Amino acid sequence: MKKYNVCIVGGGSTYTLGFLKSFARMQEEFPLNKLVLFDIDEKRQEPIGKFGDILFAEKMPGLDFSYTTDAKEAYQDMDFIFMQMRAGGLEMRAKDEHIPLSMGMIGQETCGAGGMSYGLRSCVEMIKAIHEIRKYSPNAWILNYTNPAAIVAEALRREFPDDQKILNICDQPENVVRSCSRLLGCEWEDLDPVYFGLNHFGWFTHMYNKTTGEDLLPKIKELIKKNGFLPQDAEQRDQSWLDTYGMVQTIMNDFPDYLPNTYDQYYLYPEYKASHLNPDFTRADEVMAGREKRVFKECNEIISEGKLGKKLENISDAHAEMMIKVAEAIAFNKNNRHILIVENNGAIANMQDDAMVEVVCELGINGPRPMRVGNIPQFYLGLLVNQVSCEKLIVDAYYEKSYNKALQAFTLNRLVNDAKKARPLLDALIEANKGMWPELR
Ligand code: G6P
Ligand code: MN
Repeated sequence: MKKYNVCIVGGGSTYTLGFLKSFARMQEEFPLNKLVLFDIDEKRQEPIGKFGDILFAEKMPGLDFSYTTDAKEAYQDMDFIFMQMRAGGLEMRAKDEHIPLSMGMIGQETCGAGGMSYGLRSCVEMIKAIHEIRKYSPNAWILNYTNPAAIVAEALRREFPDDQKILNICDQPENVVRSCSRLLGCEWEDLDPVYFGLNHFGWFTHMYNKTTGEDLLPKIKELIKKNGFLPQDAEQRDQSWLDTYGMVQTIMNDFPDYLPNTYDQYYLYPEYKASHLNPDFTRADEVMAGREKRVFKECNEIISEGKLGKKLENISDAHAEMMIKVAEAIAFNKNNRHILIVENNGAIANMQDDAMVEVVCELGINGPRPMRVGNIPQFYLGLLVNQVSCEKLIVDAYYEKSYNKALQAFTLNRLVNDAKKARPLLDALIEANKGMWPELR
């Protein structure tokens, strides 16, 4: 059986441990020949690389595993490239969150002004990286979940229009499906969802039982009304994530048609959310104080002991499992269903063809085949057309280096919504992103 060569771009990410663990656990389903971690930050990547050395010596002794800061070494002869870079690091994530909040608007990693700020940085770095990758591995599948995935997907669609092997994915829709399985007391693989939207802005219209075909959405609604909503892995989550899932109940009280993606809270309650977030301690601060410290501490302990021990069990890997299953679906032409970000082309019938939308797709060796959802109701259409316009304008701003387009995007965004607020916010973010954004004129 063929074994695959895989590279993870952003090897120093706190998510990488979950990937290493999952690659070992899933070695039968997705056999690896070679695994390379790549990061430009040698210091961050090194402890994770050393953890990998110990893990694979124990669990997959035949694997050719390495970590590097050299692009050529990383990208050569790859079958799959998993991309999880964070342009500007967590320090810039903190600024994306703090600056808008300090001006009374939501500061968030991917939504609103923070997302647009991050989006421009990611356009710069992702486009550069993929040109580099294509020099060394013209045929590798690029599985991209670099954020903000909506803006990145739009930029890649324009930069690489003929490249059929770039796939944009986010784990949040599947996380919501997994959470439903917790609520229902079933396996998440038994659920067959129907979903539409943009990345981090969508809804489930149905949640079928895969075997019987029964639509479980009415039951899910009832259970959420009664019991609230928790992530599947609630015991491992910080309070802010529990609050986020908790908002699903509020959303469903106001808009009972469908089950929302958790990110919808920002678009539906921008003022309420902004007033309930702490501008001095945002999610980025929580991640730096919590997960980041924990991950590197665990790595260092394992390195100094020279063995894994029980610690491996604590590493959460749902996200990695999903991404590896996506690679598996392609490698073995499984035509499994995944929720993916693809060019619309009629999937959502009353939305423009060239929008990058998030829908259920069948995924195999020839890429994703989106499943049509038909016309969506006016309320949802209105929200999505507004947001997709905003995402497209930010990518216009990137290509045209246009201050005006950026100002339009900021003004249009529901989380900003007023040109008098948009301009000073944009100016503050230009200052904060010096050297990382194109120079807007
Ligand atoms: C979800 C989203 C990702 C996002 C992540 C942030 O998984 O789908 O796009 O990056 O949450 O999580 P964090 O724990 O870093 O706030
Ligand atoms: Mn996501």
